[in-house]
Amino acid sequence: WRLRADMEKISDYLNRYKNHTFIKGLTTAEHIDSLQSFEIRDGDIFAVTYPKSGTIWIQQIVISICELDGSLNKNEVNPKQMPWLEHSYVHDDYTLRPSPRLFSSHLRPTLMPPGLKDKKAKIIYVMRNPKDTLVSYYHFSKKFVGLETPKSFDWCFEQYMKGNVSGSSWFDHIREWHLEKDQFNILFLTYEDMLLDLKAAVNKICSFLGKNLSEEAIEQVVEKCTFRTMKKDPKANYEFLPKERFSGSFMRKGQIGDWKNMFSAAQSERVDEMLQEKLGDLSLKFIWE
Ligand code: A3P
Repeated sequence: WRLRADMEKISDYLNRYKNHTFIKGLTTAEHIDSLQSFEIRDGDIFAVTYPKSGTIWIQQIVISICELDGSLNKNEVNPKQMPWLEHSYVHDDYTLRPSPRLFSSHLRPTLMPPGLKDKKAKIIYVMRNPKDTLVSYYHFSKKFVGLETPKSFDWCFEQYMKGNVSGSSWFDHIREWHLEKDQFNILFLTYEDMLLDLKAAVNKICSFLGKNLSEEAIEQVVEKCTFRTMKKDPKANYEFLPKERFSGSFMRKGQIGDWKNMFSAAQSERVDEMLQEKLGDLSLKFIWE
C-alpha cells in the first residue's frame, strides 16, 4: 500500500503541488515526485524560466547552438528536442536519448532532480521583467484553452500577485533560484539583455556550455533566433499547436515595456513594492529598460 499524492485544485485550470502551480492535465503529482530520482547526466542542459519569460527563445538558441556544433541532428519541432521535464503527458523515455539531452523547465529549485547539484549538468535561467511577463501571460491566457480566460486585466493582475497563475509567484521563483544558485551550475540571463544584444547573449551561452563556434556560426545562431526569423520558423514558433488549443501566437510582440500599455500607475507601484518586499534583501540589479 502506498498513499498516492494528489495535487490540490486551485481552479478548474490550475493545480498546486508542493507549493508550485501547474496547468491541469500536463502533469501529475507522481511524475513531479519521480523527478527526485531522475538520473541526471553530466552533459544535460536545462533552460529554466518563469512562464512567459522567453522560454521558446532560449530553446531556439540552445537548439541552434547544438545543431551548429553537430551535437544535435534531429529534425523535430523544438519542444520535442527540448521537452519540459515536468510534463508527464509526453510519455517519452528520456533514458533512451543520446547526450547532450536538452530540457526546458518552469520548476522551482526544490522540485528539480537532485543530481543537478553535482554541478556537472548546466542550467541557463532566463528572467524577465515581472510586469512584461504578466502582460504576456494575460494575452496568452486569452488564447490558450488550458488557462482561464481572464475576466479583465485587473483580475489577471490580482491572480498574478497572489501567485495563482501557471508557475506560481514570479517573486518566489526568482527568489528561490537566486538563493539556491550556488548549489547548481547556472548561468543567469535576462530577456532584456538578450533583446538588447542577442549576439553577446549567444556568446555568453556558448562559453557557458563550452561550445567553440566560429564567428560565422555565431552569426547564424543570432540570425535563427531573432524575433523576425523565429516567427517564420515552423520548428520554433509553436504554430504547430492545434488551433483549437491555442489560437494566438507565442511570438506576439517580443518587446520591452509593453506593460506600460496595460498597467495603471497604482498597479506598477504595487509590483515595485513587492519587488522590494520579496527580493530587496538579495541585492539583485533589476535593470529592465
Ligand atoms: P510577448 O507576449 O511579450 O510578445 P515564453 O516562451 O516563455 O512563453 O515567452 C513568450 C514571450 O517571449 C512572448 O512575449 C514572445 O513574443 C517572446 N519571444 C519569443 N521569442 C522571442 C525572440 N526571438 N525575441 C524576442 N521575444 C521573443
